[in-house]
Amino acid sequence: MSTNLNLAIVVPGKGASPLAPARPVDLPVPGEGELLVKVEAAGQNPVDTMQAAVGYIVPSFPIIVGVDCAGSVVSLGPGVSSFAPGDRIAAYTPLGQASQYGAYQQYCLARAAAAIHLPASLSYDSAATLPLAFYTAAIGLHLLLGVPVPLDEAGTLAPDVGADEWILVWGASSSVGAAAVQLAKAAGFHVVATASPANFAYVQTLGADVVLDYHDPAIVDSIQSTASLSLAFDAISQPPTTTACLAALSSEGGKIAITLPYAGAVPDSVELLGVNASALHSRMLHDVPELTRLWQALINEGKLRPHPFKIMPHGLNSIDAGFALQREGKISAQKLVYHPQETQA
Ligand SMILES: NC(=O)c1ccc[n+]([C@@H]2O[C@H](COP(=O)([O-])OP(=O)(O)OC[C@H]3O[C@@H](n4cnc5c(N)ncnc54)[C@H](OP(=O)(O)O)[C@@H]3O)[C@@H](O)[C@H]2O)c1
Repeated sequence: MSTNLNLAIVVPGKGASPLAPARPVDLPVPGEGELLVKVEAAGQNPVDTMQAAVGYIVPSFPIIVGVDCAGSVVSLGPGVSSFAPGDRIAAYTPLGQASQYGAYQQYCLARAAAAIHLPASLSYDSAATLPLAFYTAAIGLHLLLGVPVPLDEAGTLAPDVGADEWILVWGASSSVGAAAVQLAKAAGFHVVATASPANFAYVQTLGADVVLDYHDPAIVDSIQSTASLSLAFDAISQPPTTTACLAALSSEGGKIAITLPYAGAVPDSVELLGVNASALHSRMLHDVPELTRLWQALINEGKLRPHPFKIMPHGLNSIDAGFALQREGKISAQKLVYHPQETQA
């Protein structure tokens, strides 16, 4: 059944352009553990553009992409008891699976296991900047680098579980890097971060203890003179950034979490650990509930600042302009957010 109740940006095939205008698609039906969400705000991520441009982790075309959504619960699938219709939520929807989970539509499906309740004080726009960035940072920091999850048995934040250690967050003004800084601080770590000077003030508001300009040719020396490091989170993971993180660790080595693959040489003393946020849904890692509890606790206690955002005009129909900004590397300390409900067919 096709209805005019749901408008979506449908990617018909690899590299198709333009993607707008939105067109009518079926209203999804929530399955076991799922929520039907009226999407009020959808946040853009680099992976969305990679899916559309080159078919990266696209099971088949046509597909509706997008994984960051905030909105209200319309209905519940079987087995969901933690949400009710009308609840305000944010969710990281399954990446690289099927169109019903795509956030670039007016109604999408989300899994209750990767969704949180939003306090009244948090706007849908702010909340839509967080889901994938949070889980990517949390997988890297807590599951791969082994930073303890700062929650007590009651599920509330237990600050300072960290061992008063330092960690490097490379690319702290990116949405993933900004989340990584805040998670490291919530766990009691000291953070040395890199960003462009224009974003130093922003990264300091996230709690970074030292912020350095990654354009500085002496950046590695500056990091090394700040702290002796055995942990790094490379949020950018372009070859030069991972090379710099490798050089910044102490001579004893350590662990680096990366967000994109690295093909260069890695010393035996260093473990390079790749984050794969799509695995969160494809395998439903057993750690998901704990990470989601952490996300909820950080939001409840105001310890996870949303990323700065820009609202894109004309609902989803500005998607081509938004994807172009991402591809051209013109996004700095900002998330692009769409209002699907303002979309005209
Ligand atoms: N593996 C996974 O599961 C996974 C999940 C999510 C994201 N990712 C990947 O992680 C990366 C970050 O994603 P995102 O959403 O956080 O991106 P984003 O917010 O769009 O990144 C923009 C930021 O990158 C910073 N940047 C660019 N080049 C840099 C460099 N050489 N050194 C330091 N910072 C640099 C810019 O900082 P300034 O403006 O301050 O210069 C800008 O603020 C992307 O490549 C994405 O595909 C992977």
